[in-house]
Amino acid sequence: LIEDAELISQQVLADGQRVIHLKSPRIAAQAKAGSFVHLTCSNAHPMRRPLSIQRVDRAQGLIEVLYKIVGLGTHALSERKVGETLSCMGPIGNGFSIDLTHTRPLLIGGGVGIPPMIFLSDEMKQLASLTPFVILGSEIPFPFNARPSTIVVPGIPSDVIAAHPLLEDWNIPSRLTSLKGFAGCYEGYVTQLASIWLKSLSDAERAKVIIYSCGPTPMLKAVAQLAEAFKLPAQVSLEEFMACAVGGCAGCVVKINTENGPKMQRVCVDGPVFEASRVMWTE
Ligand SMILES: Cc1cc2nc3c(=O)[nH]c(=O)nc-3n(C[C@H](O)[C@H](O)[C@H](O)COP(=O)(O)OP(=O)(O)OC[C@H]3O[C@@H](n4cnc5c(N)ncnc54)[C@H](O)[C@@H]3O)c2cc1C
Ligand code: FES
Repeated sequence: LIEDAELISQQVLADGQRVIHLKSPRIAAQAKAGSFVHLTCSNAHPMRRPLSIQRVDRAQGLIEVLYKIVGLGTHALSERKVGETLSCMGPIGNGFSIDLTHTRPLLIGGGVGIPPMIFLSDEMKQLASLTPFVILGSEIPFPFNARPSTIVVPGIPSDVIAAHPLLEDWNIPSRLTSLKGFAGCYEGYVTQLASIWLKSLSDAERAKVIIYSCGPTPMLKAVAQLAEAFKLPAQVSLEEFMACAVGGCAGCVVKINTENGPKMQRVCVDGPVFEASRVMWTE
C-alpha cells in the first residue's frame, strides 16, 4: 500500500536523531510492532529508505518514526518541512508475534532498534497477563529524556535507575545501558544487563521469559547467544540493505535455517523478524 503522507512534525534530537509524525491513516490502521515503512525521502532521491514504525495513533491516522541521519536519504528527509508530502509504502514485513505462553517478555533494543520495542511495549500494555521488562542501549544520547524509574526491578543493581519516560507512564519497567557514562545507566552492553537480570530469576520464573530484540547486527548476534545460553526463545528484527522492499530484488537476503534446511530468505517480506536460533549469522 502506498500512501501520500503529510509531514506533521519533525522534532530535532541530539546527534542527528529526529522524530517525525506522518499523516498516513491507512498505514497507521494496519501497522504492528516490527513493521516498517519504505519512504521516499525526497524527489532527488527516488530510492526509498526503510524505517521502523515507533508508534501509531489510529484515531488521528498518524505514524511516528525515529531516525538517525546517516547518509543522503536520511539527510534529505531531515530537510523536509512540515506540511510537505512524502510517498510512504507500508506497513511492510512480518512483525513480532507476541507469545502469550511466555508471560515475562524481555525486550532489548539498541540505537535505531529502539522504535519497534516501543511499539511492542504499547501492544503488550493492553495484555494484562504479560509483565514485560525493557532494556534499551545507546552510544549516543538517548532519543528521549530519560528519567529515574519509580518501578523496582529485583535483580537489577540499585544505581541503574534511568528509564524511558513513556514506558514509565505505561507502568512498564525499563532500564538503560551505555558505555558513554550517561547518568543512571548501566555501564556496559544491553546483553550484560540482561544476563544479570536473567541470573537473578528462579528457574521457574526464567522459564517464562522470551526475548524480543531489534538493533545493530552485532548486538542481535549477542542476543541470540544470550538466548541460547539461557535456553530461551527469542525473536530478532534484522536490518539489511533494501532496494525494492516488496520481495522482488533479493537484495536483502539472509541465511535462515528453516525446517527444510538452510534457505536464503528476504528480510523485507519474509522478515524482518526471525527466530533468533534460526538465523545463520555471517558477521
Ligand atoms: C527494516 C528496517 C528498519 C529500519 N528502521 C530504522 C529506524 O527506525 N530508524 C533509523 O534511523 N534507521 C532505520 N533503519 C536503517 C535505515 O534504513 C538506514 O539508516 C537508511 O536507509 C540509510 O539511508 P541513507 O540514504 O541516509 O544512507 P546511505 O548510507 O547513503 O544509504 C545508501 C543506501 O544504503 C542503504 N543503507 C544504508 N545503511 C543501511 C542500513 N543500516 N540498513 C539498511 N539499508 C541501509 C540505503 O537504503 C540506501 O539504499 C532500518 C533499516 C531496516 C532494513
Ligand atoms: S529489498 Fe528487494 S527483495 Fe527485499
